[in-house]
Amino acid sequence: MSLIEKALQKMRAESAAAGAAPQPKPAPAAEPAALPGPTSAPRRTPRQTIDVDSDTLLASGVLAPEDKQHQQVSDYRHIKRQVVSMAASGSVSVGSASRVIMVTSALPGEGKTFTALNLALSLALERDSSVLLVDGDIAKPNTSRLLNIERYPGLLDALSDDQADVEDFVLGTNIKGLYALSAGKITDTANEFLSSARMDTVMQQLLQDKNRYIVLDTPPLLVTTEAAALAHHAGQVLMVVRADSTVQRAVQDALHLLGEREGISLILNRVTQSKLEGYYYGYSYGDRYGDTPVPKALSSF
Ligand SMILES: Nc1ncnc2c1ncn2[C@@H]1O[C@H](COP(=O)(O)OP(=O)(O)O)[C@@H](O)[C@H]1O
Ligand SMILES: [Mg+2]
Repeated sequence: MSLIEKALQKMRAESAAAGAAPQPKPAPAAEPAALPGPTSAPRRTPRQTIDVDSDTLLASGVLAPEDKQHQQVSDYRHIKRQVVSMAASGSVSVGSASRVIMVTSALPGEGKTFTALNLALSLALERDSSVLLVDGDIAKPNTSRLLNIERYPGLLDALSDDQADVEDFVLGTNIKGLYALSAGKITDTANEFLSSARMDTVMQQLLQDKNRYIVLDTPPLLVTTEAAALAHHAGQVLMVVRADSTVQRAVQDALHLLGEREGISLILNRVTQSKLEGYYYGYSYGDRYGDTPVPKALSSF
């Protein structure tokens, strides 16, 4: 069962139990507890809700074909558990930013968008929290494209207007617990906005919802300057490394750009069982089209 089907099934089961159609989560009466906390809701009901199209995600390869879906759900549950426990344990000493999980890589095509989407879908299944998937890759806003939200205002619109309330641009989805923020309107000055002081204000606004994880899909570190700037806003950085493709030097250079900091984990993506030996760092995630997806291991830097 795909993550989407699981999420929809959970929503149906809960609404059947409540004897009512799915309702937007009610706004909390008081300041919500920080993660992990009681079942809570986004601060505000989104102005608009979109439908995530599982066929699009299947066709693009983000969701595994049926025979591999169980493995994919299980792989991302494992990765999610590590992320959740890092956010909850306070092992990242950056306060609320530990709920901001940036997904990046050294180079394009290593699986950032794939990882960000699958991690967000898995986090949406958490009972006590929600997840906001933010498209911060303005050069290749593939998260926005896959969710079919490219035409909606989003991050860049919030950054370019000091008066804007970013919550106005947060979209609900047909998947309980999953919210999305598109990259927004891309202009010539978009790069500067991502590294501006306003970005900090916008992130602080988004972090007001204390039961929300924020998964940030970003550009590759070695190709752009924005990714390193965005890392300042994230308590956790997941660096996706494509097995058998990314050279060690590129990984080292990318890590160097992130500087001395905590909360960096590597996800070794597209690992085949036969190549597993020797890899013992980071998360690893199997290539569905390779031999056999592999078990995961985690260590943080
Ligand atoms: N583990 C994986 N198994 C199968 N396909 C994958 C995997 N990781 C990434 N892909 C595919 O590889 C392509 C590039 O991945 P993508 O997430 O778009 O890279 P990035 O965002 O880093 O540029 C996409 O078509 C994606 O669906
Ligand atoms: Mg991408």
